[in-house]
Amino acid sequence: MLNNKKYYEDQYPASLAAKHFVFALIWTFGASLDDQSKPRFNEFLIGLITLDWGMTSGGDNDDNEIDIKKDNQQDGVGGKNKTTSNQTNYKAASQFLTSEAFMQLLVSITFPRGASVFDVIINESNNQWERWASRVPVYKYDPQQPYEEIVVQTQDTVATTTLLNMLIKSHTNILITGTTGTGKTIVVNDFLHIPDIQDKSLFFQINFSAQTSAKGTQEVLEGRLTHRRSNLIGPPVGKQGIVFVDDLNTPTPEIYFAQPPIELLRQCIDQKGIYDRKKLTFIHLTETVFVAACGPPGGGRHEITQRLTRLFHTIGMPQVGTSAMTQIFSAIITGFLTNQKPALPQTVQELAKPLVDATVFLYNKACTTFLPTPSKSHYTFNLRDASSLVSGVLHASPGCYQIPLILVKLWSHEGCRVFRDRLIDDTDRNLFDCVLMGVLNKYYIRPEPDE
Ligand SMILES: Nc1ncnc2c1ncn2[C@@H]1O[C@H](COP(=O)(O)OP(=O)(O)OP(=O)(O)O)[C@@H](O)[C@H]1O
Ligand SMILES: [Mg+2]
Repeated sequence: MLNNKKYYEDQYPASLAAKHFVFALIWTFGASLDDQSKPRFNEFLIGLITLDWGMTSGGDNDDNEIDIKKDNQQDGVGGKNKTTSNQTNYKAASQFLTSEAFMQLLVSITFPRGASVFDVIINESNNQWERWASRVPVYKYDPQQPYEEIVVQTQDTVATTTLLNMLIKSHTNILITGTTGTGKTIVVNDFLHIPDIQDKSLFFQINFSAQTSAKGTQEVLEGRLTHRRSNLIGPPVGKQGIVFVDDLNTPTPEIYFAQPPIELLRQCIDQKGIYDRKKLTFIHLTETVFVAACGPPGGGRHEITQRLTRLFHTIGMPQVGTSAMTQIFSAIITGFLTNQKPALPQTVQELAKPLVDATVFLYNKACTTFLPTPSKSHYTFNLRDASSLVSGVLHASPGCYQIPLILVKLWSHEGCRVFRDRLIDDTDRNLFDCVLMGVLNKYYIRPEPDE
């Protein structure tokens, strides 16, 4: 954002500069944190901003914004005691941030009521904070779109996509991390297929795996980019090259723990080029940014060298929570059941909400009931499993959707295929049957015997 010339025009109030500073702070230091640390960062930053700096507020509040210091004091967060402990905790920070101008800027920051620092972006038209949630587009179901390509935007996907756009424009390499099934791959792919991005860039994907070699990676890079001169490769003139490296940390380390494809990437980014394997001359790489995605080490994923990760702007993709999951599956299932031609019976269309709630509940229940142990290490579930259940239901032949009872049976069948088939003994399978019955009862979708 700070690369944008618009912000350096004449009327650039200091309070807006402070907002941009805080926004940059949130999405640099804060963005790379995991789900447990983000609330702590939120508390830390709000505490830092609302420290009693001994200044009067010079804020640019509008009606929608409140002074977070007052608000925190009302609800006990950051109250007198908190401020005292903050003052101790942040002593080092306050020593650093002692200039009067800086203090004045900080006290001018206000956030919308009840918002976390990760919930907001600066609205460029009025320079006020705006919630990411207000930028989430309404999902429009497209019957022609294959299920695998469906991406329902949520607050987190909108935030990640917006940051990708900002960072790529400023030629910054990006690393998206997060546990498996958080949507890293589909969010980046969805972003790269935005028509505007497609027009302005040449992008391609390299999927790393345990067998990926440095030579293979180099061949893909040289093959997909244009040879502008004998010692210069890049995208076609006028376009920006975007290389999406998925599953970055999967290449198997060799005997001395190095991962050659990762070292090759590091050379591409750090030294901006690669060596010609035959002539041994240096080939410069121009106008190309790397977007990488990786999950935490474990299960075939390895630690990667910080000499590479330091070159990226890291964004932690948050876990998809219950409300986001409900939002995603509601959009898909409701869209599907209400867009069939000829239209499905009303009784079937009304099943959309209970089926979504039942899917989310069954997934959460499976995650908390069937925990991994050394003999059941594969008892791990993620969004991909819930998505497989929904996908199975949506892929049935149209005759299955005409009668509520059959649709519910189909849903139960898919639930068993995704979750029950993974269980290894009768005890767990019986427990799952009880859970499934409980879910059907809870959401009133249990088939009546005479239906
Ligand atoms: N916003 C979304 N809209 C629709 N489906 C989603 C969304 N987010 C995740 N999913 C579903 O979750 C599945 C997992 O997503 P994805 O493959 O992108 O995860 P990932 O973070 O790349 O996982 P991994 O670390 O294992 O590669 C997708 O196949 C998709 O069905
Ligand atoms: Mg992935």
